[in-house]
Amino acid sequence: MSIAVDMVTFAAGNSLIVNGVSLTVEKGKVLGLLGPNGSGKSSLLRLICRLRKVKSGVIRLGGSDIASISRSDIARRIALVEQQATTDTQVTVMDVVRLGRTPHRGPLSAWSAHDDAAVSDALARVGMQGRAGQPWQTLSGGERQRVHIARALAQTPSELLLDEPTNHLDIQHQLDILGLVSKLDVTSIVALHDLNLAAMFCDSLAVLQNGEVVAAGPPEEVLTQELIERVFGVRAHVQKSSVHGRCNIQYMAG
Ligand SMILES: Nc1ncnc2c1ncn2[C@@H]1O[C@H](COP(=O)(O)OP(=O)(O)OP(=O)(O)O)[C@@H](O)[C@H]1O
Ligand SMILES: [Mg+2]
Repeated sequence: MSIAVDMVTFAAGNSLIVNGVSLTVEKGKVLGLLGPNGSGKSSLLRLICRLRKVKSGVIRLGGSDIASISRSDIARRIALVEQQATTDTQVTVMDVVRLGRTPHRGPLSAWSAHDDAAVSDALARVGMQGRAGQPWQTLSGGERQRVHIARALAQTPSELLLDEPTNHLDIQHQLDILGLVSKLDVTSIVALHDLNLAAMFCDSLAVLQNGEVVAAGPPEEVLTQELIERVFGVRAHVQKSSVHGRCNIQYMAG
């Protein structure tokens, strides 16, 4: 098991934000993290890369408790693309993607051909190879999102955490980015709001509500009409997809 979250709890102030969450992701697979606004998805992703500390429970990466892994080892192996990533505006696309190499380089080590290759490959994978010199502040919202994803790929992580990576992306790039993630030999957790994209690209799903996992398993088992109504308060019609063999959701207004 590459990522294992075992009975994890996280509190802020007096409220439990993540409440007894357990989930696992096998090596190389993609877990989709679903749930309404405020259900705890971003908080859980931050706990998994140790940006926040659990109140109780254990998170394991490749069998090791993250509390026992050094910060530098965590930085080398896990990449997080945050929901609202900020970037210094006085930089180029290349500067941002190069940041992904920082955990792999010592304070005095020279920039290597290997670092260059990782950066070029990451830019190409998100279709931004022609934009390396473009100033960050001139990019569109979707282009910024793709550059942040390239930074994470340049890190060559073994675990990749993506918080709503399809925000701002047009439909083609939504499909491209999730298609790319699903083909990488990297264990990934992707927080998503689009249930159809989650069904298409994720090997398994976990649904959070008020900080608790209320459903988990293969997309076609998790995404039932009953669950969508109970958790998201929306009536929907769920059909088996003739395109990708999983499920296809149509929402009903009112
Ligand atoms: N440090 C904090 N102090 C107080 N409340 C917090 C803190 N961090 C998170 N919360 C609250 O915890 C809840 C879960 O937040 P989180 O960002 O994890 O939700 P989410 O599922 O990612 O939502 P969204 O879909 O809107 O991104 C929210 O109600 C949020 O206001
Ligand atoms: Mg969030």
